[in-house]
Amino acid sequence: MDSEAKIRRAIWEQLQYATIDRHHAWRLPVLANVDEHGLPQARTVVLREVQEASQRLIIYTDHRSPKALALAVNPSSVLVFWSKALSWQLRVSLSARIETRGEKVEQAWKTVLQTAAAADYLSPQTPGSPMPAHAGKPAEQPAFAIIIASVLSIDWLELGAEGHRRALLTADEFQWLVP
Ligand SMILES: Cc1cc2nc3c(=O)[nH]c(=O)nc-3n(C[C@H](O)[C@H](O)[C@H](O)COP(=O)(O)O)c2cc1C
Repeated sequence: MDSEAKIRRAIWEQLQYATIDRHHAWRLPVLANVDEHGLPQARTVVLREVQEASQRLIIYTDHRSPKALALAVNPSSVLVFWSKALSWQLRVSLSARIETRGEKVEQAWKTVLQTAAAADYLSPQTPGSPMPAHAGKPAEQPAFAIIIASVLSIDWLELGAEGHRRALLTADEFQWLVP
């Protein structure tokens, strides 16, 4: 395998590990997008699933959250990953879609139900809204959604003591860049 193919392989392998290994730095990337006012937004999320064959990354969210609404209007987004252990940064350009129903959502919700995180999606209040004086009753329907983010390109940066390396990867191209 040439070095370009090896790098591509290693990137997808590490993304996959990050969904399994709780201590992998890439488990908690930052998701950035532009909101409906044209303003930048960024927040930490958990990388839940990686589908290399279809070049998709999966994140769970509350469909009432501002990011879910903003991504429905403008799907362009970026996930930024940094791993000190690898000395690798990834800036993944994405087109994100929100799914609130269907088999995939139901399956994911079943796994979340077995964790403490389930309560977040059953909260009667919308994320980011002012805290009410009295807690309401839990919502009857979970506000659970999945963000299906299709990878458009990956900007890979490796920091090295003897020099840095950088490349732009698309589905069928690999372009070395000046770091
Ligand atoms: C370690 C960590 C992990 C998080 N994981 C998620 C996540 O997987 N999905 C999510 O919607 N919010 C997650 N959050 C909360 C978001 O960072 C953010 O505060 C929230 O989603 C509201 O974002 P918004 O107002 O831009 O919609 C996480 C926060 C932290 C600190």
